[in-house]
Amino acid sequence: MSANFKNTGFGSALRRFGMAGAIGLVLFVIGVTLFYSDSFQRLAAAVGTDVDLPDAPGAEVAQANRAAMHAASAAWAKDVQVAAPHIPVGIDGFFAPPTDDEIPDGPFGEAVLRGRDIFNNTPKFAAQYSGNSQSCVNCHLDAGRKVFSAPLWGAYPKYPMYRGKNKKVNTFQDRMHGCFTYSMNAPASPAGGPPPLGDQVYLDLEAYAFWLADGTPAGQTLPGAGYPKVAKTELGYDYERGAKVYAANCALCHSADGQGHIEAAGNVRFPPLWGPEAYNWGAGMARIDTATSFIKYNMPLSQGQTLTDQEAWDVASYINSFERPADPRQVGTLEDARQTFHKDEQSYYGKEVRGKIIGHGVSRTTVAAE
Ligand code: HEC
Ligand code: HEC
Repeated sequence: MSANFKNTGFGSALRRFGMAGAIGLVLFVIGVTLFYSDSFQRLAAAVGTDVDLPDAPGAEVAQANRAAMHAASAAWAKDVQVAAPHIPVGIDGFFAPPTDDEIPDGPFGEAVLRGRDIFNNTPKFAAQYSGNSQSCVNCHLDAGRKVFSAPLWGAYPKYPMYRGKNKKVNTFQDRMHGCFTYSMNAPASPAGGPPPLGDQVYLDLEAYAFWLADGTPAGQTLPGAGYPKVAKTELGYDYERGAKVYAANCALCHSADGQGHIEAAGNVRFPPLWGPEAYNWGAGMARIDTATSFIKYNMPLSQGQTLTDQEAWDVASYINSFERPADPRQVGTLEDARQTFHKDEQSYYGKEVRGKIIGHGVSRTTVAAE
């Protein structure tokens, strides 16, 4: 009976109907998932559409956990015998930083807002100290909130901290001074260098980071902080293999020549990855291992952890196999600087690539002259 039923016109219409329903359901689920996902927001941001998004699922959980933390902190400050506050987490299990509507009114809130502006659009709000087309947010995604992209809430509680890079205990300002010097290429800025320690730019950025870190324990490195290391692969890295990974996964946004996309109004839609507008040779991102970590967990945009470790190593070596602004620490020959600053690192600084020693640096003026 059922075998015959299958062959009747009525049976196949029913099956088609069922099938259409199932496909519809799958599409609906995909649509809803996409709509709520980070990728949709990112995609919308990337194409420049302002979309009113409902609060992401889990936002209420994070908010409830934050409210509980605040209540417990206030009670505990009055009486240490009551239960201590918990670190507030979101549904992903990571620290839940405050949302923008928690920014308080008054002078502190204003400093937080200024810091957020500088962080998200450095060439506009800290123009004096900005020597390329990068903004802090290009490497510390989602306004310094995203896990695995050195979020500010993960960084702030760690300082002061000793750093091998400059062999001293670094304050949080010292740390930002470093990102201005190298990642923002401040030597090429109108001021000719990073903001001096104590500058209002640092005070505002510090207010923003302190505020984002509300609820974190001082001195701890929380899960999701920093850029996670990626294990070395058997094949090592190879920029020629990386060129193929780049063409297939990155060129769409950062363009085939690595110069990204800067709109007529000067807004950086996709940051340049090499050349005079990129981070300089002294930057953490110019090290192949650091770039591998960043890329593996954050790129292609909103598709972190989709490349294999091998692809991440290869493409990181590819983007770092081109000239970029000089290392500001270089005095004397390139080889001297390589020995002093780049000896034990995974970098092409002072090495031969495509038959040429690279690391000399390019600047806006040298490129214009060519
Ligand atoms: C080109 C990418 C890039 C840009 C732009 C950039 N940074 Fe960074 N930043 C990094 C990297 C990479 C590290 C980790 C450095 C390392 O491993 O040496 C880092 C580390 C940091 C840290 C310490 C993080 C931690 O967990 O200890 C802070 C704070 C920071 N950056 C702030 C800033 C600020 C503020 C700006 C803008 C003025 C900025 N960064 C711009 C790449 C960048
Ligand atoms: C859909 C567009 C898109 C794709 C595809 C994409 N990126 Fe990005 N990338 C971005 C955007 C946008 C940023 C800045 C993030 C921000 O500001 O939120 C960025 C930032 C970066 C940075 C930060 C450093 C800097 O110089 O500013 C690196 C490195 C990077 N991407 C490498 C890659 C690599 C390698 C790939 C391919 C595996 C890739 N990206 C694919 C859009 C994209």
